[in-house]
Amino acid sequence: MDKSKSYYIIGNWKMNPDNRKEALKIFEGIKKSSQRRRSKVVVCPPFVYLSDISSGRLPKSLSLGAQDCFWKESGSFTGEISPTQLADLRVEYVIVGHSERRAMGEEDEVISKKINALLSADLKPIICIGESRRDKDGEYLQFLESQLSFAFDEVTPVHLDKVIVAYEPVWAIGKTEEEAITGHSLHETVILIKRFLARKYGKERGFSVPVLYGGSVSPRNAEEILKEGNAEGLLIGRESLDPKSFSEIIDLADSI
Ligand code: PGA
Repeated sequence: MDKSKSYYIIGNWKMNPDNRKEALKIFEGIKKSSQRRRSKVVVCPPFVYLSDISSGRLPKSLSLGAQDCFWKESGSFTGEISPTQLADLRVEYVIVGHSERRAMGEEDEVISKKINALLSADLKPIICIGESRRDKDGEYLQFLESQLSFAFDEVTPVHLDKVIVAYEPVWAIGKTEEEAITGHSLHETVILIKRFLARKYGKERGFSVPVLYGGSVSPRNAEEILKEGNAEGLLIGRESLDPKSFSEIIDLADSI
């Protein structure tokens, strides 16, 4: 990767930890190791911790993210959180369409609405796509293209610089490193995603959208994924709750 570019290292805490004290402890650890980094580090804690976390000073290389949002600005939508409310808490990035939300019934049409609402609020969506299984006939490739088509349906070229794609094959999430994707097959999928974007927005614009990988990333496989897989960053679940591991992954990314 050329030295002027930097990787995205994004931590998705999911519904962890189970108390505020622990959340603040993890965040302090990550904050310390995020000083003066070349990588762009993003932490996505549960909504309930965002307010506390966003109150202190953040290193330049560290930004806040959320794990989901609603598609309206305000109103009678019990239990929902709007992009505007998130922006008010200094949130810059929002994960949308994570496979765990899709498994709870979130559909492509809803994901598309969320992406558009985020862009209107000047926030940056991290759009998750990924197949549940790979078949020999390559049907999963059409599945990925269909997820991309819905997600980018109303995304105009002017908003493209705010969008990130995170390729997270469902079969590789929450597994061991041995079960994560290999650099080689990741590279093929990154090319497929970039080609889709190039067809829709032209080569230069399309190729400029960062494509990240997520699914059982650890300090042991991060380098292969970034180097051989040509991912432009990582979306990390479990290992992002351990500041030491997370920091090792940032070190690796910074050294490439
Ligand atoms: P994992 O989760 O790193 O624990 O596999 C990744 C994700 O679901 O974003």
